[in-house]
Amino acid sequence: MDTQNLLFSLFCFFLLSLFSGQQQIVEGSRVSPFAFRPQKLFVFGDSYADTGNNRKALASSWKFPYGITFPGKPAGRFSDGRVLTDYVAGYLGIKTPIPYRWRKELAGRLKYGVNFAYGGTGVFDTLVQEPNMTTQIDFFQQLLNDSVYTKRGLKTSVALVSVAGNDYSAYIARNGSAAGFPAFIGSVVSQLTVNLKRIHGLGVRKIAVSALQPLGCLPQSTAQFSFEQCNATENTLVNLHNQLLVQAVNNLNKQTNSTSFIVLDLYDAFWTVFNQKEAHQVSPTFENPFQPCCVGVTAGFSCGSVDEHGVKKYTLCSNPKSTFFWDTVHPTQEGWQAVYSTPAFQNSLKQL
Ligand SMILES: *[C@@H]1O[C@H](CO)[C@@H](O)[C@H](O)[C@H]1NC(C)=O
Ligand SMILES: *[C@@H]1O[C@H](CO)[C@@H](O)[C@H](O)[C@H]1NC(C)=O
Ligand SMILES: *[C@@H]1O[C@H](CO)[C@@H](O)[C@H](O)[C@H]1NC(C)=O
Ligand SMILES: *[C@@H]1O[C@H](CO)[C@@H](O)[C@H](O)[C@H]1NC(C)=O
Ligand SMILES: *[C@@H]1O[C@H](CO)[C@@H](O)[C@H](O)[C@H]1NC(C)=O
Repeated sequence: MDTQNLLFSLFCFFLLSLFSGQQQIVEGSRVSPFAFRPQKLFVFGDSYADTGNNRKALASSWKFPYGITFPGKPAGRFSDGRVLTDYVAGYLGIKTPIPYRWRKELAGRLKYGVNFAYGGTGVFDTLVQEPNMTTQIDFFQQLLNDSVYTKRGLKTSVALVSVAGNDYSAYIARNGSAAGFPAFIGSVVSQLTVNLKRIHGLGVRKIAVSALQPLGCLPQSTAQFSFEQCNATENTLVNLHNQLLVQAVNNLNKQTNSTSFIVLDLYDAFWTVFNQKEAHQVSPTFENPFQPCCVGVTAGFSCGSVDEHGVKKYTLCSNPKSTFFWDTVHPTQEGWQAVYSTPAFQNSLKQL
């Protein structure tokens, strides 16, 4: 065989392997874990899911050191790197949907869906001046009315709905105490149920709503116990929210005669990670899972704060990969990766 022939056969072999490779991918997708092939992700909720909707002037997520791990600079995520939305999109095999506020600049990415989540928001109005969940769904409906998406196109869509507790912190801030909480939890879950039903009514095929994480174990609650112990009262209230949520989701599935609604079990997933140290699991291990990486020097300051002279008023750990929590509320990228890898989280995702 002369060189030219050899090159030609090598080229053919290359083409052949390329196509057979492709075939394998196609076959792989046929046996994919999904009952359908998700093509778009629409996201509603708060800072656990926001990837840049928050206004730069207001949100800590646009300040250094947020984003130092990914994308390498502050870009609107409330973490050092990737957040819940990125992991769910990755699982679905699609690109992270663009934040709603960039829908015009990045219109080419609308094919992966849109992220309508705004840090600090809840199902009701909270302490931030950002769109509540009802308004976020209005934005979504507006895009449908404007024919950016068709109802038919939504048949291959998934929605992620994050409710990480801002309604409850707003309630405590307004009322000064947790008295009257159980009734309020009931109204949060019933408003959330209205929202889930509405997203389904607009045509989204599968809707994953997060259960509340153990709020009493967030650094903002464990700080008074030197980051060693959770606030059990708060976790009891979280359990009530989660029980009502599971009931509501079961009812929605019955009403719609479907398996459209699923609960993403963040509660179990967070606890699995917290308990990993005791279980001596190899990876990933966080020395003290309750200790955050980035904290304000005193109560008046938070991660990213600087004083009027630009002097930083927070401390930053040497390696964000070594902590579960980034700031007093949000996990690090490594923390989200650990949550994503838990059986509780994977089993929830399998229902999509
Ligand atoms: C959401 O915000 C809109 C606009 O500010 C307001 O009219 C509406 O009452 C709010 N909805 C809920 C459920 O709090
Ligand atoms: C979208 O269109 C429907 C039906 O015409 C209308 O009821 C609704 O108010 C519109 N919503 C938005 C957000 O434009
Ligand atoms: C707490 O605030 C809500 C309204 O935000 C109010 O309806 C309720 O009565 C308050 N509860 C207590 C115990 O103050
Ligand atoms: C636990 O949280 C509740 C509700 O936020 C609060 O009232 C209580 O003081 C906290 N418990 C402790 C021991 O700090
Ligand atoms: C629910 O769906 C099943 C299977 O698709 C069907 O056999 C049944 O008739 C439906 N029931 C109602 C009440 O729509």
